[in-house]
Parts: sequence; C-alpha cells; structure tokens
Amino acid sequence: MIAPAEKGKTVKLNILRQDSPDAKPYWQNFEVPCNAGSNVTSLLRSISESPVTAGGAKVAPPAYEASCLEEVCGSCTMVINGRVRQACSTLVRKIHPHDSEEPITIEPMTKFPVIRDLVVDRSRTFENLKRIKAWIPIDSSYNLGPGPRITPEEQQAMYPLSRCMTCGACLEACPQFTRDNNFVGAQIISIARYYNMHPNGKILKDERMEVLMGEGGITDCGNAQNCVKVCPKEIPLTESIGVIGRAATVYSIKKFFSK
Ligand code: SF4
Ligand code: FES
Repeated sequence: MIAPAEKGKTVKLNILRQDSPDAKPYWQNFEVPCNAGSNVTSLLRSISESPVTAGGAKVAPPAYEASCLEEVCGSCTMVINGRVRQACSTLVRKIHPHDSEEPITIEPMTKFPVIRDLVVDRSRTFENLKRIKAWIPIDSSYNLGPGPRITPEEQQAMYPLSRCMTCGACLEACPQFTRDNNFVGAQIISIARYYNMHPNGKILKDERMEVLMGEGGITDCGNAQNCVKVCPKEIPLTESIGVIGRAATVYSIKKFFSK
C-alpha cells in the first residue's frame, strides 16, 4: 500500500550517472530526506546541496534539468522507477511504498543522447518541429489586423493538442522511435495536426503532409499506442495519428489527380 511519507524520513535513490556523452554510465546510491510533499526534483535538489553518496563519498552533484517546476516545460522528463515522467510532478508518496527499503531508480531518457547524468539532448525533436514547419506563417513588421475567427468548437478541438510541451515522453515510450532511425513520433504528428487545423497554419498543410508522408513519417508508426498512455498532458495522440493517416490518403489522391 502506498501511504504518505512521514516527516523526518529518508528515501534511497539509485541514480544512473554518466560523466560525459561518451563516458560509461554507472549507478550511484544516495539517501535523502523526504516528506509528504517531496517530489523527485526536490530530492535531486537535496542531493545537489550536499552531494554525498549513501556510502559517504563526496561526489559531483548529479546534473538534471528543471525550469517551470509545474509540469509545463517538460525539461525534467526522465525515467523514474522504470517509467518516463516529469521529476517535478512526481510525488514520492505516489510512487514509493511507505517504509519501503527499495531505492527509487532514476535514469535519463534512453531515446536521446546523454549530455551528462540526467540531461539529454533533445535537438532531434526541435529539428523535426522545423521540418514540419510547426508555426503560423504570418510575419510582418506592421499590424496585420485581427486574425481569422476560430469558432468555440474549433478552439475546443485544438486546445488539447496545443498542450504539448515537447517533453519527449511519448517518444521514449514508443518502440518505433529509436536512436538510429528517423521516425518523427507521435508528438510531431500531433503538433502537425494542430497547425493544420489552424486557419492560418493550414496554409502550410501540404508541406507538412509531404514531410509526414516521407521517410520517418506516419507510415513508421507501429500502432503500439504506448505514446498516449504516458503523455502527461493527456493529448489524444492515437487520434492524431489516425487523423493524419487519413489526411495522408486524401493528400495522395489529390496529388495523383493534380498531375
Ligand atoms: S505529446 Fe505528450 S508526451 Fe509527447 S512530447 Fe507532447 S506532452 Fe510530451
Ligand atoms: S520542470 Fe518543467 S515540467 Fe518539470
């Protein structure tokens, strides 16, 4: 049974560390104070304040990222107890049984190159956002006036898609997204759907479809559906994959007849 941690208690952490991108990873154990409100980021911060292992060795503090501390930026995404999630919103009492002597394991995401310890290089994601032109193509040095109207129904359909924080959790959980292929993953497919729905964003719809129908695009999805299970923002990723899959069929027919 999982119960709130008590004041004054400590918890064991087993952190997979890596000193540099090419160095060999190794595990290091820590024991840190923990209370009912502790989350994994607060445990990592405690270690940083006094980086001493459970065995008493003084070490360099584990590197980790954190920015918003409220599950909005996605920077603190890591694998905690074998599941990808955000360290800032992972309450220790929710994942660690009361009085357990077992350590909490903390590892960097495996689908991205490690820079150091828990910090990974997610540039691939940002390159893919550029590939699908994940923006509204309106740019000007003068006032263009009000944009086109978006109905409440359209807003309602677009809002869940707009919540993606490019954390990479869906990519970490996806068996088709590997370090040595170029599958864009559910995140990019869903973001493309979002921009294709926007009245101005849809100006670039065909260009996005070209990318999504090319190598590493929609056809690489194996329909494992892991993405939707781990998305902290509950984005309907499998629905987006279905929508883009159908849009790809329509686009190919349109292309065929416009030759
Ligand atoms: S779709 Fe969800 S899991 Fe994937 S990057 Fe966006 S917020 Fe993270
Ligand atoms: S610090 Fe921003 S999501 Fe955790």
